[in-house]
Amino acid sequence: MKLWASLLIVGIAAAAPAWGQAAAGDEAAIKLPAPRLDGAVSLEKAIQGRRSVRGYSGEALTLAEAAQLLWAAYGITDPRPDGPAFIRGGLRAAPSAGGLYPLEVYLVAGKVTGLAAGIYRYVSEKHELARIETGDRRDALCLAALGQAWIREAPASLVFGAVFARTTKKYGERGRERYVWMDAGFAGENVYLQARALGLGCCIAGAFLDDKVKQAVNMAGDEVPVCILGVGRRR
Ligand SMILES: Cc1cc2nc3c(=O)[nH]c(=O)nc-3n(C[C@H](O)[C@H](O)[C@H](O)COP(=O)(O)O)c2cc1C
Repeated sequence: MKLWASLLIVGIAAAAPAWGQAAAGDEAAIKLPAPRLDGAVSLEKAIQGRRSVRGYSGEALTLAEAAQLLWAAYGITDPRPDGPAFIRGGLRAAPSAGGLYPLEVYLVAGKVTGLAAGIYRYVSEKHELARIETGDRRDALCLAALGQAWIREAPASLVFGAVFARTTKKYGERGRERYVWMDAGFAGENVYLQARALGLGCCIAGAFLDDKVKQAVNMAGDEVPVCILGVGRRR
């Protein structure tokens, strides 16, 4: 059995109900550095070198690195200011069934230079962060992910939530069973490859307790947590 699969079993028993009630959000906006459109590592080398990395040095990420990862996940790459409302600003780095973009991307910042530890929501159309809550929530996220320690050690994690209704209102059950998950896979792989291209390590976690992840990142009621992507400098 995979380590993280056995953690699922152990973690359900061990997870302590230590999560505080999240404070009501103050959604202060934080402008992010513009994404770089070139880099030292070719796409082919990033694919070849991509691995799930669970050992991090403890060093901080820079705000520019965090911004680049968020952009790779769900940044607007083709603005459509006059496009239909459902596109919400333009076409993005990852494909999406019907251009409906069901995902919300959160940054759980622990050690990010120039950014207070806290929970942030990525606002793709402005390439901004909306601050939801300050304070280091990595412990809560780690416990929500059944005690997978690398999530606490990663200086930051991206958490994807899905608003299924955006996709199911057009595609019905096919949207629920297939398209939203496919959308998340594309965006998640972008994060892996971007991390590799930046010389960072990244790992996805799908083993977690949904309610606890929602509490840890203060996710809206209609969102379903899809995955956690821890990122940091390799040890
Ligand atoms: C949907 C999904 C869920 C995963 N969940 C976890 C997880 O909870 N914890 C973990 O350590 N790795 C998790 N992984 C990472 C896999 O263990 C990893 O991709 C696999 O061992 C292959 O290694 P590689 O990514 O380095 O190629 C997950 C991967 C996927 C695609």
